[in-house]
Amino acid sequence: MTNCKQLEKLHETIRYCTLCPLHETRTNAVPGEGPCNASVMFVGEAPGAEEDETGRPFVGRSGELLVSLLEEIELARDDIFITSILKSRPPKNRTPKKVEINVCRPYLEQQIELIKPRVIVLLGGVAISSLFGPRKVSESHGRFVESDSQRYFMTYHPAAALRFPKIKIAMREDFKILSQDLV
Ligand code: URA
Repeated sequence: MTNCKQLEKLHETIRYCTLCPLHETRTNAVPGEGPCNASVMFVGEAPGAEEDETGRPFVGRSGELLVSLLEEIELARDDIFITSILKSRPPKNRTPKKVEINVCRPYLEQQIELIKPRVIVLLGGVAISSLFGPRKVSESHGRFVESDSQRYFMTYHPAAALRFPKIKIAMREDFKILSQDLV
């Protein structure tokens, strides 16, 4: 089976996942979307209300900001793969629990394995800490790290940039650093 077919199959599994109690409160699971051979993968925290409604990642206000930041560095949403650490919305958008992150982690690992992106952009503290342990975004953003032969780039979550203008400026700078790596 091709990688693309395997990814489709994985996403179907995620849509019907009942491994944690979040399946009881979600409307739709949100596996992620984008080309199965994308060279850049973006990983957020968890679906919000609009994502839960539609089953698509980053379609709310955070997604709008993400798309405009991408456009500034001449990346189109259609060129990247977008997903989140959790594939189901936590009630009232509460912070994901450790147990939920651990149960959902194999899905992200399989997506990475199938897509084999050149770089994975971790958006915000939950994404960064889920993969690298507790770290302050303010101290780690704008940097590349390599782990198990996979490159990662760390930046803020667009939701934080929507709340704090200074974070939006920092995120824009981070995206410039990222774009220099993509040429
Ligand atoms: N925030 C996330 O982290 N992921 C989404 O899909 C939407 C908002």
